[in-house]
Amino acid sequence: MSNMGVYAEFHSLASKLQAKFSKSGLAQMEVFTQRQIDHHLQSSSKETIPDAERTDFVSKLLEMHKAQPDKISLENVFMACLTNVGAGSDTTSISLSAILYYLIKSPDKYKKAGFLPIENLCNQKANRPKLRDEIDESYSSGEASRPMTYQQSQRLPYLQACIKEGLRLHPATGLPLARVVPKGGARICGRFFPEGTTVGVNAWVMNRNPTVFGPDADDFRPERWLESSERASEMDRHLMSFGLGSRTCIGKNISLMEIGIALPEIVSRFDFELLKPLEELKTENVWFVKQKNFACWVSLRQK
Ligand code: HEM
Repeated sequence: MSNMGVYAEFHSLASKLQAKFSKSGLAQMEVFTQRQIDHHLQSSSKETIPDAERTDFVSKLLEMHKAQPDKISLENVFMACLTNVGAGSDTTSISLSAILYYLIKSPDKYKKAGFLPIENLCNQKANRPKLRDEIDESYSSGEASRPMTYQQSQRLPYLQACIKEGLRLHPATGLPLARVVPKGGARICGRFFPEGTTVGVNAWVMNRNPTVFGPDADDFRPERWLESSERASEMDRHLMSFGLGSRTCIGKNISLMEIGIALPEIVSRFDFELLKPLEELKTENVWFVKQKNFACWVSLRQK
């Protein structure tokens, strides 16, 4: 699908060949999605968990279907679930992995030690607490429950800065986000583009723009988000990990919630060691930019 987005002239031929010879890709996702819906329909008819107690997406959508079957058809439920799986799974896991990867691999200390449990990372010059300290303190002071809620995680500035910085350095999508120049054309970066031209910016380029993010834009430095609120909102306005404008990601807040809840649990419970600490990170860009060699030893936290 990604290749066809780039080489659109081959789309018609490729989709015919795919339909005849291959049941991979979207077809697999459709089978998976239908299985989840069928499973819910069957288990809710057995009344194992009362419908009102279910809090997952499929149950909520099926509830909406039950309440207004003429407005929300089973096909609508299927499409919404398919979008969640297709647009929300790899993107969120890639982003969470990116944040963890950069937390584990702090460049200055990493070279000396070769191994870094997560608590040694993000050692700031200023007197802000390290990530693990911040999380531990929020548990011990009773400010956060375990696992913490999304609202509680939003009150941890260093955690939020680490999330933003990971999302910035490794946006989950790696092709230009296309837009069509409207009527009358547009002047962009000093060049005129006639109406109808497809233009786009890749988040990997935008997110490392030194004019916006500073001369050290290639470095993982969560502190940049905490230095001045003016600068932080300027960077926020340009952060393109979820796209920008009217077609911005509709699942952004769901993912930020998932990451905001999962990351404190992971960081406070486990130590990490890269399997091949000297190896550069390898990625594969098939619209989603997947990490290929981010393998770790994971152990229960020592102290
Ligand atoms: C960390 C996780 C995610 C990342 C990095 C991400 C990234 C993106 C990006 C870059 C776009 C294109 C935006 C643009 O063109 O300006 C997009 C669109 C979209 N995303 Fe996400 N996404 C994530 C999670 C999700 C989730 C969880 C869902 C669904 C539950 C979702 C559903 C969508 C949909 C439906 C669109 C198309 C919106 C439109 O064209 O109007 N995404 N996402």
